Parts: sequence; C-alpha cells; structure tokens
Amino acid sequence: MPEILLKSKSLGKILSWEKKESLILYGENENLRIYVLWDKVLRFYFSKNREWKHASFVVKEISPSKDFSVEEKEEIILRTKMLRVTIDKNSGKISIYNKDGDLILSDYQDCGYRIFKNRVYSYKEIKEEKAFLGFGERTGNLNKKGKRLTNWNTDNPHHYTNIDSLYQSHPFFLAWNPKKSYGIFLDNTFRTYFDMGRESEKYYYFYAEDGELDYYFFYGPSPKEVLELYTELTGRYYLPPLWALGYQQSRWSYATEEEVRILAKTFREKTIPCDVIYLDIDYMEDFKVFTINNKRFPNFQRMIEDLSLKGFKIIPIIDPGVKVDLNYDLYKEGIEKDLFCKKSNGKIYTGYVWPGKCVFPDFIRKEVREWWEEKQKEMIKLGISGFWNDMNEPSSMSHIEYLLMRLLFYHLHFKEPPFIPQVPWNKEKKPKEFYKKTLSSDVLHGDKREFTHHEIHNVYGLLMVEACFEGWKKAKPNLRPLIITRAGFSGIQKFSAVWTGDNKSTWEHLYMSLPMLQNLSLSGIPFVGADVGGFWKDCNSELFIRWMELGTFYPYFRNHSAMNTKNQEPWSFGENVEKIVRNYINLRYKLLPYIYSLFWEAKEKGIPPLRSLIMEFPEDPEGIIHEDEFLLGPNLLVAPIYREGERKRRVYLPKGDWYDFWTGEKLTGPNIFEVSAPLEIIPVFVKGGSIIPLWELQNYVGEKEQENLELRVYDGEGEFIFYEDDGFSWNYERGEYNLLKFSLSKEREGYILSIEYLHNGYKSPRKRFRIVTLKGKIIEVEEQKAEKIYLSP
Ligand code: GLC
Repeated sequence: MPEILLKSKSLGKILSWEKKESLILYGENENLRIYVLWDKVLRFYFSKNREWKHASFVVKEISPSKDFSVEEKEEIILRTKMLRVTIDKNSGKISIYNKDGDLILSDYQDCGYRIFKNRVYSYKEIKEEKAFLGFGERTGNLNKKGKRLTNWNTDNPHHYTNIDSLYQSHPFFLAWNPKKSYGIFLDNTFRTYFDMGRESEKYYYFYAEDGELDYYFFYGPSPKEVLELYTELTGRYYLPPLWALGYQQSRWSYATEEEVRILAKTFREKTIPCDVIYLDIDYMEDFKVFTINNKRFPNFQRMIEDLSLKGFKIIPIIDPGVKVDLNYDLYKEGIEKDLFCKKSNGKIYTGYVWPGKCVFPDFIRKEVREWWEEKQKEMIKLGISGFWNDMNEPSSMSHIEYLLMRLLFYHLHFKEPPFIPQVPWNKEKKPKEFYKKTLSSDVLHGDKREFTHHEIHNVYGLLMVEACFEGWKKAKPNLRPLIITRAGFSGIQKFSAVWTGDNKSTWEHLYMSLPMLQNLSLSGIPFVGADVGGFWKDCNSELFIRWMELGTFYPYFRNHSAMNTKNQEPWSFGENVEKIVRNYINLRYKLLPYIYSLFWEAKEKGIPPLRSLIMEFPEDPEGIIHEDEFLLGPNLLVAPIYREGERKRRVYLPKGDWYDFWTGEKLTGPNIFEVSAPLEIIPVFVKGGSIIPLWELQNYVGEKEQENLELRVYDGEGEFIFYEDDGFSWNYERGEYNLLKFSLSKEREGYILSIEYLHNGYKSPRKRFRIVTLKGKIIEVEEQKAEKIYLSP
C-alpha cells in the first residue's frame, strides 16, 4: 500500500444506511451519498469531517432519479436499470457491474476514499482498461495509461512533449475497453492529480489537494455514449456561426488599420477565402483592455464596417489584467466599486501582464461579471463579431519577468521566449511552474472572500468566459458570436471554442496537435484547433504547407504567429506554396456543410467533430496506437504528414472499404497501407457508404447563395444527417432549421440514394442536389423531386 495511505483515514466500516434522494452510507469515519443521476450515471459524494459543503462550479442542480433500489445482504446493493453497485460493509469497497454482471470498476482495497490532512483520494483497481483518454489539453501520447497528470491551469509558453500542466484543466477521463468503456469526472477545482498506473500496475488513483471527493461515473459501454452522458452533465456547445468554421487569419499583431485593410484586400485580390481577422494586443492603447489605440486605428469602427462589406469579421483579444493607471477609467471604476481580487490582508493583488502592473477582476462575483459584460458591450457596438480571451489562467508575471519579456519581444525582437528547463515531476515536489506565475495563493475571492485562489484558480478562465458569453447574448441577442479561450475547465464547451495556446513552428508541435486535439475532443470540447503554422519561431514552406493541409481538417482553423517571426499569411512563402494552400482553404470552404452538420451532432449529443479512431471503431484496439491519424466526423479519415521531407506514410484503415479522397482508389481494412503523399497531398480516406455534402466555392461564408448542394457518394451502404439553418442567428432554437437524412443502400447493380426531411423549418436557398458518384457521373435533381434516386453502376 502506498505509504501516504498508512497515515490516512478511509470511510471505515459501514454502520448503517438509508435510502433517500440518494443512498446514504454512514461509515465509521465518514459518510457517502450515492446519487443515481440517470441509469448509467452515478455520483459518489463523500463527506469531509462528516459535512457535505461542495457547491459545483460546473454541474448545475439536477434532480436525481429515484428509480433505484437498495437491499442489504452480505453487501449493500444498489440497482439501477443498467447498473449494480455493491458496497462491502466491512471495508466500504465499492464495485460497479453492468447489466450482464461484468465488473466495470472497483475500488482498490479499502482505498475508494482516503483522506489525509486536507487531501482526498480515490484508488481504483486497474482491470481491463486498455487506455485512459481525455484529461483535456495534454502534450504527449494519446493514451495516458502509465502517466501521471496534474490539473493546474498554467501558462507555459515553452511547452513541449511530456510537459504536465497546460492552460486548461479537465479532471475527466475516458477509460477505454473494447466492450465496456466508462468515464470519471472529478468535480473538484483545486489542484488535482491523476496517477493512471504509473505508481503501480495494479491501481490508478486521483486526488485533490483540498475540497471534497465528489466524482461522477458514466458507463458507456461505447466511448460515444460516455461522452454523450458526460456532456449531458457538464454542458454542450451551441452551434457556432457558420463563418466561424471558415478560414481565420491572425498574428501578433496586425497592429495598424492600414495593415489590417491591406491584409483583407490581399485575401480578396488573391481569391483566397477568409472569414475572420484577429486583432492581437497592439490594437489597444498601452495594452489597456477595452481601449482602442486611436493613433494606430484612427477609424476603428469604420474599418470594421468597411471590412464587413467585404465579408470579414473582426475579433479582438481581451486579457483579464487591468492596468494600474489612475487616468484609466476601467481601473478607477473597478477600484471604486471594489471589483478586483484581494489578498488575505485586504490589499488588492497586483501582478504584471502586457500592460505592466495589473489588477484582476474577481470573476467569481456576479456583479464583477456583469460589470465586465457592460464593458464588452461598448466594444460590441463597434461591430466586432466575438472575443478572443487570453492570459486567463490567469497569467501574471513578476516585475522582473515582465521587464524581460517587454525587452525581449518589443526591443530585441526575440522569436520565442528563452528556454528555462523544467524540473521533472518528483513525488514530493510540485512540478515547477513556469517563470510566469499566477495569482499568489493568499488571494481570496468572492463577496465574503470565502474562496482561496487555490480553489478558484482553475475556474478563473471559465468564469471570465462565462461573462463573455452571457454579455454577448445580452448585447446581441440574436447573433451568435465566436468566442475563443486559452484557459478553461470542464464545462468550458458551453461557452467557447478552445485553441491550444503557444505552440511552435516545428514538426514536433505539428505532431503534438494530433493527440492533443483528440484528447481535448474526448473531453467534450468540439470546437478545437492549434495555431496553424505554429506560433513561436519562423515557419518554413514545407512545414507551412503540411500544417495548412492538416488545419483544413481541424474543427477550428486559424493561422496565428508570434511577433518577430516570419510572416505566415498564405502568400508569405512564394507563389507555389500559395497555390497549394489556396487549394486547401478552398477545400475547407467546400466541406463547410459537412463540418457544420458535425457541429449539430456535437450540440445534440456532445460527439465532437474531430474523432479518435476508437470513437467510430470502439472495438478496434489499433485505434489507440494510431494516434497520428484521426477522423473528421464519421466519414473522413485524415492521415497527415508530420516529418520533413516525407512523401509517403503508413496509414491504418479500420475494418471496411475506404476510398482515397483524391484518386477514388479503393482500399479495404483493417490493414496498414503505405500511401504516397507528395507535398501538395495530405492522405485522406472516405469510408464506403459515405455521402459528403459539399458547397460551391466562395470567398467567405454568405458571399453566394448556395443553390446547389453537391452530394459526393462513395459505394457502400450508409447514411448522413445533414443540418442547415441561417448560420448566424439563434432562430434554430425555435425550430428554424432543416434536418435531412441522406442514405445510401444497395439496389440491383447500383445504389439508391434517399433524401428525407426529418425536420423542415428553414427556407433554404437550395434549388438542386448535384450527386456525384465515384466514377464521376453527375446527376442533378431538383430540390422538390429529390426523394429516391437510383445510381446505376
Ligand atoms: C499569448 C497568446 C498569444 C498572443 C500573445 C500576445 O502568448 O497565447 O496567442 O498572440 O499572448 O497577445
């Protein structure tokens, strides 16, 4: 037994129990409530010093199901329609079985609950779990079995493979097994740790430095079912505006109005589609949040209006740090109204971010969030289309670090921060935090200052982004925004897209985005992407091409790069590169109806667009190994090139027929194939039986009425649910959308394509379907007539 456990207390013998809203077990040392949320979702909530005080930041009040029974035999047994839970009366050991009587999860010895000082632990036996996935934003491999992970939002601009904490914390994982996957969400915002069999092959465990042991168990048995249940609990993303799925251009910084106008003009002149331009910190006056630098942007509002006529949306960056400056209204007002975080001695906490010395809004307080919402309103009035929330871990430097950063980037023109080696994790020491610190631990939050920073730290970003989203809805009640964030916690998907922070223009980082985005998606976040082309360092032509090819298939497709690095616009690497890259951006615009339909599935069921192979092929263990490929939706398998000079690669194709997206060549899985990948080709395969809806080309979403919907059909049997609405308003919530089922079935020598309306609530501009078969045959059918179409061989 681990040494620390010898000193800890367990639940102890179960002395009695009662069935109320939950099953309450009274132990010798502590008590436990087991709630049945739904038939396959259980909540285990342990008392601490016999008290239950936990108020969740993520899970809203849910009235639990009363549909369960309890009986006492040698063990105490709780039964739902789908699960049986046994509790050993002597040790308190809990085991969970499915309907067939298979053991899914059980505590390790009597260590299902341990408490030592303030820390709470739970140990579980490792049984047939082949992989542990999820855990939010992680570097390293897809499978976290044998790894130890910390949840502590950390601005680590120098992350690389095998770094521990990053910007987001998601104490959720999916335990994958071909037949019976399950998930666990530890609802605790303090610093938490997950040791997934690193210490011992016999058990895994998770613990929190403080707070209660309050966790949820989700039984699949498939990964998709686990995700569906997890997101039912923690929330799902709304439908992004359609233009937010288009191509987006960013840089630190397009720093003057002229530069932004030229950028936009160049996109249109070169007919390279683009929908969004980002404004990084230099649009502000002295980096003061909610200000505009009038020298650099003399006609800010006018610029936005003009660009909007050309189909561009503008998204500015917002940081939480408010500059300490007596001539700055936001600061003065916040001080007068007492809205900033304070230390335990009652003094306002200050730290350093881009503007210099800063104070930080205490977002846990409602009035602070409402104040922030009001401030946003002024910016929204200028015509922007969303917000880019950054530095919200929250990141806060010491004075020296700040001076150094300013000097390096703004005067010495560094291309990346200096390297500071990390101290590897060691049992007793905490991982060394990067040189950028966060708010000190003696900061207190809340009206009555009842929360330590330790408890709030991981949800600071979540609360800021909640304010951002709620504020937007108040200001523009019928226009969907694009909100992105760097920091977050479980549940962030309700409000925002997530980009993975400061990566580098290196092959290692391109690769890293593959398992990282898969795990983020497996944590319930559908709208994810990495800075395409890489943020720090200079990109080069080959890397740029390969990354743009890959980015075409990220759910969130934004190119962003740091100051002083080589420019990364699609035309920055010469004409040949521009040509290839334009083709990929074009492809992205064609694929928009397919991708948008995937977002509908994410909204409805929490299934993310970017999928690990095990999502679609849950019984195939190869899916875990081949983390260097992924699926975009159920139909497209993407196998990017991630090494310099490589012109071919091995691709694993799971069971079934697959068609090369480019040549139509048929390959049958399960098998590994060596496929060629000249510089202008990213290997992509389409599952047999797919019906891929494609749009006609346009320079931005909404430029053209899409009168023709191409349906590219691939031999085999299958179906696809196609979703459409106006793409920008919330009217879909009132039923103004269409849902069509396309299905393909074998008929004599050929196939029948059926088109069926499942919901008809939106007047689509579509006039006809243009069906394109594998052999290149084109059949046009008028919208009204399209029901069953015979596709002869
Ligand atoms: C942070 C962000 C990066 C941004 C920079 C300047 O490093 O992660 O995307 O460009 O700050 O605002």
